[in-house]
Amino acid sequence: MSEAAAITQNATTSTMFPTLLGGGALAGRLVLPEVQTLELLLAVSIFVAIHSLRQRRSQGLPCWPLVGMLPSLLLGLRSDMYEWITGVLASRGGTFTFRGPWFTNLQCVVTADPRNLEHLLKTRFGSFPKGPYFRDTVRDLLGDGIFGADDEVWRAQRKAASLEFHSAEFRALTASSLVELVHRRMLPVLAHAEASGESLDLQDVLLRLTFDNVCMIAFGVDPGCLSPGLPEIPFARAFEDATEATIVRFVTPTTVWRAMRALGVGHERVLRRSLSSVDAFAYDVIRKRKEEVAGTGRGGGRSSDLLTVFTKMRDDEGRPVYSDKFLRDICVNFILAGRDTSSVALAWFFWLLGNNPAVEARILDEIEGIVAARKNKQKNDGEVEEELVFQPDEVKRMDYLHASLSEALRLYPSVPVDHKEVRTDSSSIISLCMVVVEDEVFPDGTVLKKGTKVIYAMYAMGRMESIWGEDCREYKPERWLRDGRFMSESAYKFTAFNGGPRLCLGKDFAYYQMKFAAASILHRYHVDVVEGHPVAPKMALTMYMKYGLKVRLTKKDKSKL
Ligand code: HEM
Repeated sequence: MSEAAAITQNATTSTMFPTLLGGGALAGRLVLPEVQTLELLLAVSIFVAIHSLRQRRSQGLPCWPLVGMLPSLLLGLRSDMYEWITGVLASRGGTFTFRGPWFTNLQCVVTADPRNLEHLLKTRFGSFPKGPYFRDTVRDLLGDGIFGADDEVWRAQRKAASLEFHSAEFRALTASSLVELVHRRMLPVLAHAEASGESLDLQDVLLRLTFDNVCMIAFGVDPGCLSPGLPEIPFARAFEDATEATIVRFVTPTTVWRAMRALGVGHERVLRRSLSSVDAFAYDVIRKRKEEVAGTGRGGGRSSDLLTVFTKMRDDEGRPVYSDKFLRDICVNFILAGRDTSSVALAWFFWLLGNNPAVEARILDEIEGIVAARKNKQKNDGEVEEELVFQPDEVKRMDYLHASLSEALRLYPSVPVDHKEVRTDSSSIISLCMVVVEDEVFPDGTVLKKGTKVIYAMYAMGRMESIWGEDCREYKPERWLRDGRFMSESAYKFTAFNGGPRLCLGKDFAYYQMKFAAASILHRYHVDVVEGHPVAPKMALTMYMKYGLKVRLTKKDKSKL
């Protein structure tokens, strides 16, 4: 250091710390308390830091004054949040309590313990509603529909929809709509991509397939998203925008999004605009359907889509049971429930097959066995078939494919985390199941105060050695088979479809849809994921592939097509 620099430094330092450097007695008296304060602050900071970090041992994560565990969460969000949650849960034996900043309502219990899941979803179902927080946040989009509803409003819809989902007419509608969409629309799009040699985003194609399909079964209309050239459809766009803007509310303080809604700015503006398009479309369909049902319009009311069935319902005095608003809510909820879940599961499935050729080979063996049996029968009956369309009984016999899809859903559940709230109001629960609401206790001993938010982490559950064994991260469809037949698992261990009274209503339909689409593709094409294509989950309520799934297709034996 030069002399001049040394002098400058000494001068500066002695101004800052005159006592330490032998300054005057007065200066010393004035500055000593500052130094002591600094030392004290330093000591307190070190103590707090050590204490906070030591919380990691007792609570799983460092817990800082004021901000709680937020810093760890933010670090987790920077990489892969689902993996981060999995790591914390595994180290805590399956359950941990997240403490957010003291000024937010970010406190929640996160669990991946099947015993707790059974308690939450079945044994004490009445004590764990979706709750007012969830309902208020999604109300503009979902209204009083099944997804956000609790108690009687939920029960009535569940009962009516359940009857419909199990009817022969509905099954026939789902089968015929799938044949139409897969054979007349999806396969031509794939054939075009194969012929041009271009790569295509398989996830996008599958999302379009299931969106059109669920609109056909909920509304009885085909929006035509899956058409040559993959056009943008205004209703689908509006639905997508409305869903995304609703999700933003979950990460925005309630008072803030409410103020934004009142002012009509930001995401709330997008939501308002897209909801008016969704509603215009929905009310137009409802009006036309009512005319058809009343026999005044063309097309007849014989269809078995959900809208037609609910429109036809009458009370004892012959009046319609549901208002137009409620019919709109029912349809929007079913579209939301069924539009993306099967397609993202299929996208992860195709990616997993790319990494597990032995599994693909076994699926193909199964499919070709079924095709060969059919061809033999046709030969004996003297029938000639122009195009191979899988029949419902053949799809049912695809046990290995069923197991492979379940295994994909175990590792990549379409709904990676879900949420409940411990009931706070005692009145409605007393009328439901005669229990007085108190604090809840999970089977693992976790105490849950009234109003506590509970997150159950399906993604983490698929990666728990305690649930699936040491090979839990491996893709092994065989774990679902007994003597070659598919065997389902407890819904509290394999939670991809939820469990208890709120078990996914579309589960059977979803398996049928996924099996039919997957078998139709695999029978015709080799699907190769484009080399170097990045694969990661997107942080959303549904487990999309963040960058889609870019694939190249190659035709299989032409004689089969
Ligand atoms: C692989 C495909 C699917 C998966 C993984 C899946 C998963 C789920 C999950 C986790 C829930 C619980 C959501 C919650 O309560 O927060 C649920 C509920 C529901 N799902 Fe699915 N789903 C799939 C496909 C479908 C399809 C295709 C439909 C309809 C066409 C459907 C209709 C429903 C309905 C109506 C509910 C609400 C049930 C209730 O609250 O009582 N799902 N599903």
